[in-house]
Amino acid sequence: MEIRTMLPEDLSQAAALEAACFGSDAWSEQALEQALSDKNALYLSCMEEGRLIACCGIWQSFEDGDITNVAVEEGSRRKGCARRLLLELMRRAKLCGVENFTLEVRESNLPAVRLYESLGFTVEGIRKNFYRDPAENALIMWKR
Ligand SMILES: CC(C)(COP(=O)(O)OP(=O)(O)OC[C@H]1O[C@@H](n2cnc3c(N)ncnc32)[C@H](O)[C@@H]1OP(=O)(O)O)[C@@H](O)C(=O)NCCC(=O)NCCS
Repeated sequence: MEIRTMLPEDLSQAAALEAACFGSDAWSEQALEQALSDKNALYLSCMEEGRLIACCGIWQSFEDGDITNVAVEEGSRRKGCARRLLLELMRRAKLCGVENFTLEVRESNLPAVRLYESLGFTVEGIRKNFYRDPAENALIMWKR
């Protein structure tokens, strides 16, 4: 398992993983490409034998970092992939001046909520009906 900065050549695999994980909420390849070229954003890929098995990103606004697009392919889950990716993402973001991390997660997404709690995130707010298909509240989590 190798964690590295996301490269343009990863984009089609990243978009396919997004679609598999998030359906109609998934980011398109074009949206990911735009994010990759944003100087305030950092995206990481987790590669195994040349295949992208997981990815995540962060968007920095001064000392706050908004974590987005955390996705691990189904067959590679529960092996510590997301934890390693997020620890590396936060390590790199801290070097760029990020002190606080935030993210949104579907209220019912227990695997993700547990993952974030295990990394020190706590729920600080709820955004009513933030998600569509199906409509659901978002938990706003922070690690300060
Ligand atoms: C949520 C997700 C990213 C977790 O990825 P992962 O690589 O399987 O997570 P890890 O193996 O690093 O797990 C780290 C910790 O998270 C928690 N966790 C992960 N999956 C869990 C599950 N199915 N049930 C309960 N806790 C879980 C556990 O605390 C776990 O530690 P442990 O294995 O030592 O108990 C993955 O399930 C996924 O891609 N889901 C679909 C996309 C998604 O929902 N992304 C998040 C959007 S906010």
